[in-house]
Formats: sequence, C-alpha cells, structure tokens
Amino acid sequence: MTDRILVGNGIPAAFRFAFYDDYKEGGKHHGSVRVAKEIREWWPTVSCPGLLLVGGPGKGKTLLASAALNELQEHHSPRGINRIPRGERLSYRQMKWPVYFVQMAEYIELQLQMMKLHDGVKAGWRDPEELQELENFLQNLKTRVKLLVLDDVGKEHRTASRFAIDNFDLLLRTRFNNGLFTIITSNLPLSQWGNEYSNSMQNFIERSFTVIKFPRRPGDRILY
Ligand SMILES: Nc1ncnc2c1ncn2[C@@H]1O[C@H](COP(=O)(O)OP(=O)(O)OP(=O)(O)O)[C@@H](O)[C@H]1O
Ligand SMILES: [Mg+2]
Repeated sequence: MTDRILVGNGIPAAFRFAFYDDYKEGGKHHGSVRVAKEIREWWPTVSCPGLLLVGGPGKGKTLLASAALNELQEHHSPRGINRIPRGERLSYRQMKWPVYFVQMAEYIELQLQMMKLHDGVKAGWRDPEELQELENFLQNLKTRVKLLVLDDVGKEHRTASRFAIDNFDLLLRTRFNNGLFTIITSNLPLSQWGNEYSNSMQNFIERSFTVIKFPRRPGDRILY
C-alpha cells in the first residue's frame, strides 16, 4: 500500500500527461468554451489558493484538475535536473515543487488505516516504521505538497461520519495556513456544502476558492 502511494504523484494513468489543450470545446464531450477560458485564467494565490471544479459526471472535471496540476508543475519546475520530463514518473518526494492527486474517499481511508496501524503498533503486532511512513505521507499532504488535487469530494459521503468531515476540514485549513494550493472536484453544488459538511466549511470555500461551474447538459438530473 505504502509503495503505491509513495511512487509517482497519484494522478490516474489516463490523465498523467493531460494538459489544458486536452480539454476540447464542443465536440462529442460538449466541452464548454467558458470553462476552457476560466481554467486558463485561474492562478492560485496565497489569499485565494483553491479551485473548486463542480458539475455533473463525465464533464471533464478530473481531466482539468489533472491538467492544472501538470501545467503548474511544469511552470514551477525549473529547467535542469529538477524539471520532470513529460513521460517520467517521479515520486512527489523527489519533486522540487511537489504535487499530489488523491481521491477524497482514499484520503479518508488512509486516515483510518493510520489509526488502525497506530493501535497495531501499540499492541506490538505492526511495524512502527510502516506507521511512521504513513504518518509522514499524510503530514506531507497537509504541510508540504504545493498543489494537491482532492478528487470526487462528496462521494465519500455515503459513509459519512464526523471523522471524515473533521479530517477534510483540517486538511483544507492546514494547507491554507501553510500557503499551499488545493484543487477540489465535486458533483456537490457549493450551496449544499453547508448541509453536507458545515456552514463554516461552505463559507471557507466561498472565501478562499475560485469556483468553476460546469454547465448543465440536456438530461442532467441535478441543478448545478
Ligand atoms: N471537453 C472534453 N474534452 C476532451 N475530453 C473530455 C472532455 N470532457 C470529458 N472528457 C473525457 O471524458 C471522460 C470523463 O471525464 P472526467 O473523468 O474528467 O469527468 P468528471 O467530470 O471528472 O466525471 P465524474 O464526476 O464522474 O468524476 C474522460 O475520458 C475525459 O478525458
Ligand atoms: Mg472525476
């Protein structure tokens, strides 16, 4: 498990080399001209370090989140030995400007695993090094990874618990306080975040995230 999370930067294989040009306007995917323009105009700052991509399924949110990660990574990696050649797989730890991609459900699962490992180490049947590695990894997501993509926020909610909400909240606020950038993709309209998470979370996102809404298509069931 730990090998998988430490090798590479977590981007799904299909989007490992995605860039903004891969998002097509019109065509079979009905790509939006406005969305294509807004994503290119987005630039994270310390006071507004986040991007929320919100809309229905299959609209290219994960594609654009991955593309933004690759675009910024390429921008921030200076030419020379630390620049990552397109096509090469580097661990986020080896990167000069570390980036990481994780599904929200997976992040919560890793937090749970850490708690279980902790108990196992205390009881003497799990390896303390394994725990240390996972703790470091999760700590790095909070305090070191410059740009983190949190994919599919809201889908973890079927197993909703205070635990998931608190961990999500802590991750976002710690990253904000450390001046780090975060991209979230979600099917959940921001107006519902107060109910699903908390009013203070919705307020926090409204203040510190740029929101790009993907337009509805005929047949979409939910209003975005
Ligand atoms: N405008 C577009 N141009 C090119 N490919 C697109 C576009 N929109 C969607 N796609 C493709 O459609 C597929 C689904 O896109 P993606 O996974 O990014 O959707 P999503 O909005 O994240 O959906 P979900 O909410 O289900 O996670 C991918 O293969 C993606 O490359
Ligand atoms: Mg997606």
